[in-house]
Amino acid sequence: MISTDIKKILISEKQIDERCKELAKELTLAYHDKNPIMLSLLKGSVYFTTYLTKYLDFPLEFDFMKPSSYVGTSSTGNVEIQMKPLSDLKDRHVLIIEDIIDSGTTLKKIKELLISDYHPKSVKIVTLLDKKEMRKVDIDPDYTGFIIPNEFVVGFGLDFNEQYRNLPYIGVIKEECYQK
Ligand code: IMP
Ligand code: MG
Repeated sequence: MISTDIKKILISEKQIDERCKELAKELTLAYHDKNPIMLSLLKGSVYFTTYLTKYLDFPLEFDFMKPSSYVGTSSTGNVEIQMKPLSDLKDRHVLIIEDIIDSGTTLKKIKELLISDYHPKSVKIVTLLDKKEMRKVDIDPDYTGFIIPNEFVVGFGLDFNEQYRNLPYIGVIKEECYQK
């Protein structure tokens, strides 16, 4: 069982769901008449995308893109796109859905690239988690689920070496499990 690798649950599924409901109210005010494209960043944002959007009762579209994931725990500053969005984003309102912002490098690059290459009408960011104290570049999400301390977290879509994404909560793994 992978749940036995977890030393503590930081945020429960119920807490996440409740927060999604609140965020959805804010998003409804901002986007109800804009038919936005919800641009979910693979793979980590998949759970957050579904929990959040099930509370949105207005027209919207989905798309996905995949920035390169970097090896290890710190950013190289080199972000590549492994999978491009499929929709025509030109003149559309785009809401980037992200799992977690750490240094901010990934999102800053993604946002700049979307604006320069796809010419959307607007680009905003909603993130489930924000390790705010770790920010190295100047970028802030427009909507945030939870601000968390600098601890490596897994679950609810987030991984360690591609594992643990299927845990239904945000948790911290035991030290010995990093050696597995
Ligand atoms: P940034 O470019 O430094 O902001 O890194 C953002 C990306 O790093 C996220 O999209 C995640 O893929 C990954 N990441 C950062 N912190 C964590 C964590 O605690 N758990 C899992 N992935 C993380
Ligand atoms: Mg990610």
